[in-house]
Amino acid sequence: YRRLRVALLGAGAVGSQVAALLLKHGDELADRAGASLELVGIAVRDLDAPRDVDLPRELFTTDAEELILGADIVIELMGGIEPARTYLMQAINSGADVVTANKALLATYGSEIFEAADQVGAQVYYEAAAAGAIPIIRPLRDSLAGDRVQRIMGIVNGTTNYILDRMDTEGADLVDVLSEAQALGYAEADPSADVDGYDAAQKAAILASLAFHTTVPLSAVHREGIMGLDKAMIDAARHAGYAIKLLAVCERLAPEDEGEEGESISVRVYPALVPRSHPLASVHGANNAVFVQAEAAGSLMFYGAGAGGVQTASAVLGDVVSAARRHIAGGVGVGESTRANLPVVPIGRVTTRY
Ligand code: HSE
Repeated sequence: YRRLRVALLGAGAVGSQVAALLLKHGDELADRAGASLELVGIAVRDLDAPRDVDLPRELFTTDAEELILGADIVIELMGGIEPARTYLMQAINSGADVVTANKALLATYGSEIFEAADQVGAQVYYEAAAAGAIPIIRPLRDSLAGDRVQRIMGIVNGTTNYILDRMDTEGADLVDVLSEAQALGYAEADPSADVDGYDAAQKAAILASLAFHTTVPLSAVHREGIMGLDKAMIDAARHAGYAIKLLAVCERLAPEDEGEEGESISVRVYPALVPRSHPLASVHGANNAVFVQAEAAGSLMFYGAGAGGVQTASAVLGDVVSAARRHIAGGVGVGESTRANLPVVPIGRVTTRY
């Protein structure tokens, strides 16, 4: 097999699992990819930081820039905006394909990154950036490319779903359950990203941009978190036949809804009352689900693990195999836009509906 050099940036909960799986299943992945995937190094800030799994020490380096220069595929799992953004742009400009799970970066600088990739014929893969292990990026980008998505309703944050579910089923207290979610490794480093809805809003911006073939800036996403909820509200909802779920709703609005000339889009994250009979009400624990309604396909439900290191690593490695196959095919799809350069659709008035 042709040898492809894979550089990994970051060895946190997801990164360390990606490295371990790549080393463990390298031969099998090579057969699938048609290329041998050689992990040439793992760039980290602190060489001595504790890791979730044991990895060969000689792979670690603090010199991300040098690692990027010699790579065919760069996997960015550092999270946060900087230095991830600088490294990702360096990787693209050096001709590498990029795999990232960085929702904050894509939701904020996605257009700039996709444009840079288009210019040099590189690809950006980001299946792991929304809803962890659940395949949702490819379905929205590829499988549903011939349809018209009308609406997405997603539970896209595992931590808040875990908290709300425990409050609902066991009458647990919000703050106690948040500590448990942190201990289980679901929560972001700053739990405000989860409980105040920032993480879900980033994922909503990514999903809406794909679903509606446009660029939905993070600033256009209406956001409410779960900190205002208490046991009494959850009990009252249950008695009335509802579950309270933190939903990311992305909707195409018809002109008549908004008194505008063309269609617009509404993207919002808020705790919603979901009827117990709806499939989203049965999403328990840290699981995620994305309910998609499309004009021709009708209703589709994508369900599974939305958080967790090894689960999210599955989506990352799927992207690595896709990137390798593209390399081997001689860059088929070079110049193909990661996201079609369509005009930005106006963002509609925020319509929060409880
Ligand atoms: N903190 C995130 C969650 C991790 O709870 O869903 C996955 O993005």
